[in-house]
Amino acid sequence: MIATPTLDMRSRIVGLDREVPLIDGRRVPYVNLDNAASTPPLLDVVRAVESFMPYYSSVHRGTGFKSRLSTVAYDQAHEIIGRFVGADLRTNTVIFGKNTTEAINKLAWRLPVGPGSVIITTQMEHHSNDLPWRPRAHVVHVHALPDGRLDEDDFDRQLARYAGRIALVAITGASNVSGFIQPIHRLARKAHDAGALILVDTAQLAPHRRVDMRPDDDPEHLDFVTLSAHKMYAPYGTGALIGPKDVFLHAPPEYRGGGTVDVVTLDEVHWAGVPDREEAGSPNVVGAVAMAVAARTLMEVGMEAVAAHEEHLIAYALERLRDVPGIRLYGETDPARAHEKVGVIPFNIDGVSHFLTAAILGYEGGIGVRSGCFCAHPYVVHLLHLDEDESHRWRDQLLAGDKSEMPGMVRASFGCYNNTDDVDRAAAAILRRLVVEDVFRPYARARAIGSVHLVGR
Ligand SMILES: Cc1ncc(COP(=O)(O)O)c(C=O)c1O
Repeated sequence: MIATPTLDMRSRIVGLDREVPLIDGRRVPYVNLDNAASTPPLLDVVRAVESFMPYYSSVHRGTGFKSRLSTVAYDQAHEIIGRFVGADLRTNTVIFGKNTTEAINKLAWRLPVGPGSVIITTQMEHHSNDLPWRPRAHVVHVHALPDGRLDEDDFDRQLARYAGRIALVAITGASNVSGFIQPIHRLARKAHDAGALILVDTAQLAPHRRVDMRPDDDPEHLDFVTLSAHKMYAPYGTGALIGPKDVFLHAPPEYRGGGTVDVVTLDEVHWAGVPDREEAGSPNVVGAVAMAVAARTLMEVGMEAVAAHEEHLIAYALERLRDVPGIRLYGETDPARAHEKVGVIPFNIDGVSHFLTAAILGYEGGIGVRSGCFCAHPYVVHLLHLDEDESHRWRDQLLAGDKSEMPGMVRASFGCYNNTDDVDRAAAAILRRLVVEDVFRPYARARAIGSVHLVGR
C-alpha cells in the first residue's frame, strides 16, 4: 500500500482549474502529465513578473532608477541560481541563455578541447547533450543496460580506456525517457580520477531533486551544470550554464557584440569579465528574474519535500498502471524502487501505436502526455529492444517522410503539483478506451485519425 503524498502545491500552480475541450464537445479540467517537456508556471513566478514589469528597464548601462533596479534584479538572479545548484560563486559563474540546449552548445564551443580529445557521454542522453559534442571531439557513448540503467561497468571501462585524453564527461542527471537518476557524484569522482571534468545536464533532475555542485575541491564536485527554466515552473525563455569562471576567460566568446566588451577600438577588443562576455546582446532580464523566483520557491518548499511527494506519486502510478492489461512499462516498474527515478513513466499498450494512445488521452481524456522518441532516439531504440534491421528499416522510412511506423513510447511525467487523482484519470482513460473497448486496435497503425496529426519528434 502506497502512503498518501503530503505536499500540496496545487494552489501555487497557474491554470490547474482550466477546462479544455474534448473531441465529443465536453469540457474537463486538464491533467498535465507532460511536465518533463515543460511545466506550468508557479503562481509566485507570474506574480513576481507582474510586479517587476512596471519597473522593467535596460540593465547594466542605464543610470535611471528603473535601470538600476532591473540591474540589481538581474544580478541577483545569477546569485540565486548559483545558490540553487550549490555553486561557489567566487570561482564559478552563472551564464543565462535560452535553455539547456543553448547552454550545452555554448560549453561545447567554449571548453578547450585539444586534438585527440575524447568526450564521454552516454546512450541515454537527450540529443541536446550528445549532438553538440560530436563536431568537437571523438565522442564515446557509454552503454545502457537492457532495463535502461547506465552500464557503470562500461563507464569505468571507457574511462580507463581513454584516461588522460578525456576532456569532459557529459551526462544527464536524470533521463527524460526512463527517469533514471544517475549517481552523479560517484561518476564525478571517477571522471576526476581519470583527469576529466564533468558536466551534468540537470534539465530533468533540478525540478525534482536537490542539485548540489559541492565545493570545488571536493572530489565529487560537479564542474558544470545546465538548467532549463521552463522545466522548473518559470516558462519565460531562460536557461543557465554554471561552471568555472576561468574556462570562459581563456578565449573570446563565440557570440560577440554589445555587452561582451570593456573597450573596443578599431583595432582592439578587450573582452568583459564573466558572465557579461558570455551573455551577448540585451539579456532576457524578465526570464532571469522568473527563473530565480522559481528556484527560490523550490528552495523554500524544499527539494526533499518535492522528492518525497514525487516518489509517492511514482510508486502509486507504477502500482496502478502495471495492472492495466496489455500495458508495457519501460525502465523501472517496481513501486518499491520509485526513489531511483524522477517522475517519468514511459509505456506502450500492446498492439496500439504510441501516437494513437497519446492522441486518445489528449482528445478523449483531456490528459496531456507526449509520445515518440523524446529527442533521445538511440535510448528509445535501446529500451524498445529493436534490433539493427528494425532500426534501419524505420530510419529509412522516416527519411522517406513516413512517420507512421516510427517506434516510440508514451510518456507520462509528473511535476510537484500532480496528485493521485491525475494518475487515476490517466489509468481510467487508458483502461476505458484502449483496453476495455478494444475498438481502436484495427486502426492502431493508421497514419492519421481524423484531424489528429500523428507525428513525433
Ligand atoms: C535531459 C534533457 N536535456 C536537455 C533538454 C533540452 O532542454 P531545452 O529544450 O530546454 O533546451 C531536455 C528537454 O527535454 C531534457 O529533457
